[in-house]
Amino acid sequence: MPLEEDVRAALARVVDPSRGADILTSGQVKGLVVREGAVSFVIEVDASRASAMEPLRAAAEAAVKAVEGVASVSAILTAHAEAGQARVAPKAPVPDLGLKDFTPKRPAPEKPGPLPGVRHVVAIASGKGGVGKSTVSANLAVALAARGLRVGLLDADVYGPSQPRMLGVSGRPSSVGNIILPLRNHGVTVMSLGFMVEEEEAIVWRGPMLMGALQQMLGQVQWGTLDVLLVDLPPGTGDVQMTLCQKTEVAGAVVVSTPQDIALIDAKKGIDMFRRMETPILGIVENMAAFVCDGCGKVHHPFGHGGARAEAERIGVPFLGEVPLYLAIRTAGDGGAPVVAAKPEGEEARPFWAIADGLIATLEARA
Ligand SMILES: Nc1ncnc2c1ncn2[C@@H]1O[C@H](COP(=O)(O)OP(=O)(O)OP(=O)(O)O)[C@@H](O)[C@H]1O
Ligand SMILES: [Mg+2]
Repeated sequence: MPLEEDVRAALARVVDPSRGADILTSGQVKGLVVREGAVSFVIEVDASRASAMEPLRAAAEAAVKAVEGVASVSAILTAHAEAGQARVAPKAPVPDLGLKDFTPKRPAPEKPGPLPGVRHVVAIASGKGGVGKSTVSANLAVALAARGLRVGLLDADVYGPSQPRMLGVSGRPSSVGNIILPLRNHGVTVMSLGFMVEEEEAIVWRGPMLMGALQQMLGQVQWGTLDVLLVDLPPGTGDVQMTLCQKTEVAGAVVVSTPQDIALIDAKKGIDMFRRMETPILGIVENMAAFVCDGCGKVHHPFGHGGARAEAERIGVPFLGEVPLYLAIRTAGDGGAPVVAAKPEGEEARPFWAIADGLIATLEARA
């Protein structure tokens, strides 16, 4: 594959000054994918130096972009945890109140098994509501499918299922025995709690019903063979998130946040919950990062800018990209064809292609 060789040659010229070696020879490049001019890869750096490595990432991206035949590049930094490093940051010491003896002894949680036929289950999560999880899920699903992956999307938000509308699928799925046959559109196999319950009915659902419904959607839906099953989660850190991580092997979570502090605080809570469930964070996406005025063309940052990238660097997880506020993203979602399907070449779709490529690279690197 000549283009891939050219890309490798370009990466071999990018030197990591802290190691005194190029990033290819040193084995820092992981998950390199070259597909029809779209290049994505992950650069693994030490967790302690992650925040200082952005210039290296930018240099690698620029070097690959300059290669003839490369149309787009998605380079992602990921922190390589030192061996033996704790997955959950230790908390400050707690004063001893003599309660130790009363702490219930909990058995170590059992590792859940993989979902048969599904290579990677990827949760799309946020701490705060309305930050664009469903929009990112729908566009990511369509983009991954367009890149040739077999993709499923499970809409696990019982309180506000969005995917029937965003992906333009409606009706009740048929079933064979107790196996539900999912619907399909834009190359994506879709199942939503919204297909199964009336909107008003779902509002009164309680934890155990939610968990039962989620388990049914994972285990009793004929997903077929999938490379990726995206799970569009409700906001927060509740029963649905926990059940998903406990009942099935989840490759990791993509956390969506808007840039303002209040959303980031909630995003951090979400990240903390996934870490406690021993579910890797595959990356952070900053949504509604900028607004381009269609009158004067000036770029505004109504919610601030860069907070999610800074947080990703601080905690050493990949920053997958930022999505500006575009009217076309909202109207396309409302119209049942995500902008990646409705305007695949448009500037509004570009961030989603990059995020999809970054996610592919991250999953490949982990595999
Ligand atoms: N980048 C964007 N540009 C324009 N509109 C957007 C963008 N991202 C999301 N929206 C719009 O914002 C609204 C909320 O987005 P979405 O439903 O995807 O958020 P959510 O996090 O899934 O919400 P919930 O927590 O309720 O599930 C939707 O109307 C969507 O079309
Ligand atoms: Mg949603």
